[in-house]
Amino acid sequence: MRMNRLNGKHIILGITGGIAAYKSAELTRRLRDAGAQVRVVMTRGATEFVTPLTFQALSGNPVHTDLLDEKAEAGMGHIELARWADAILIAPASANTIARLAQGRADDLLTAVCLASKAPLAIAPAMNHVMWHDVATQSNLGTLQQRGYHQFGPASGAQACGETGEGRMLEVAELVDSLASLFKSGALQGVNVLITAGPTYEPIDPVRFIGNRSSGRMGFAVAQAAREAGANVTLISGPGDLSTPEDMRRIDVETAAQMYDAVMHEVHSNQVFISAAAVADYRPKTSSEQKLKKQDAELSIELERTEDILAAVSTTTPRPFVVGFAAETENLEANARTKLHNKSLDLIAANRVGKNENAQDIGFNSEYNALHLIWPDGEQQLEQARKPALARQLISFIARLYNQQKQNEKNTA
Ligand code: CTP
Repeated sequence: MRMNRLNGKHIILGITGGIAAYKSAELTRRLRDAGAQVRVVMTRGATEFVTPLTFQALSGNPVHTDLLDEKAEAGMGHIELARWADAILIAPASANTIARLAQGRADDLLTAVCLASKAPLAIAPAMNHVMWHDVATQSNLGTLQQRGYHQFGPASGAQACGETGEGRMLEVAELVDSLASLFKSGALQGVNVLITAGPTYEPIDPVRFIGNRSSGRMGFAVAQAAREAGANVTLISGPGDLSTPEDMRRIDVETAAQMYDAVMHEVHSNQVFISAAAVADYRPKTSSEQKLKKQDAELSIELERTEDILAAVSTTTPRPFVVGFAAETENLEANARTKLHNKSLDLIAANRVGKNENAQDIGFNSEYNALHLIWPDGEQQLEQARKPALARQLISFIARLYNQQKQNEKNTA
């Protein structure tokens, strides 16, 4: 049962000002029936339609309404709420709240929680059909979709304003079902997925190494998204201080050679390999056992190539579905296509590293990333988003291509 997926999940139900808010009372009940823990966050407008007391009684938790209420903040502030949530559903989502989310505002509790949370975010729009069709609303929705927001509905039909059209909030049962589907995604259910993440450190001597700026965040986010999609995940990580996402096996390595050995040891029992690590291409030819002492003369360190783990995996038999990354500062697409071809990959996720057009850091060491996906017969752009949201989009993409490939193999067998 899909609804079981909500069992034990922490759901923040955001309620904004609209007549459909009365349906959210029933929604709160049904979410709890499905085993979810529910915390309700209401905008000021929402409290004009239904009282917080109603939702307190139905959710069994205090209702949160104020961003700057000292008492409330002491109980559970916006950051704690954001962390607590496994998913945030805003139902009903008014045109105003959608616009404010699209602007990235954080001037009330609900928008601040959304901005501070890494959990999946979903909106169930509800508004008059003219407001719904307005270009401003549609453009805001487009922005939210690009950022990875899920959108449930709206439906068409008779509206509270007496008119008929698109803009009705989905029925409660449909909302519960749609929310549960976020926890499937089941798209990689039972599939064994091997993921590398983080940098490698290549020792020069016992205290020095050659490394790179990879934080491992993208790889860890991909591992978590794969787990959420039902995969059995083995994560091979280079040095870093990220904590392991729940419910997966982690193998720590330091050098490219160790990562190579670990991957080769594990790869045979996996159907998908995702190479998100920033593996060093070169290592010092010799590494001194003692700390090198400085001298007056210049120092040269001779470097040799490391094993290309990704290329090696794509020649193993049985061969998994192989996904590579390409971090580029220029000629993104051309370089990525060359890698796709040279390493015989099934998919490459290319990202620009460095600054975006607003001079923000993207890629390495950043919360954000944008990906250009290229596979032998297609390509798709995933717009800039937080790494967890982007990772989920990437995983659902990988799942689609992988399942297609399996289906094709079956058909030709
Ligand atoms: N990779 C690997 N083993 C290596 C080097 C890279 O598995 N020794 C993988 C990375 O995990 C990534 C992809 O290969 O998925 C990156 O391709 P690569 O051609 O090595 O990119 P760069 O290291 O950036 O090299 P280049 O100088 O060619 O851009």
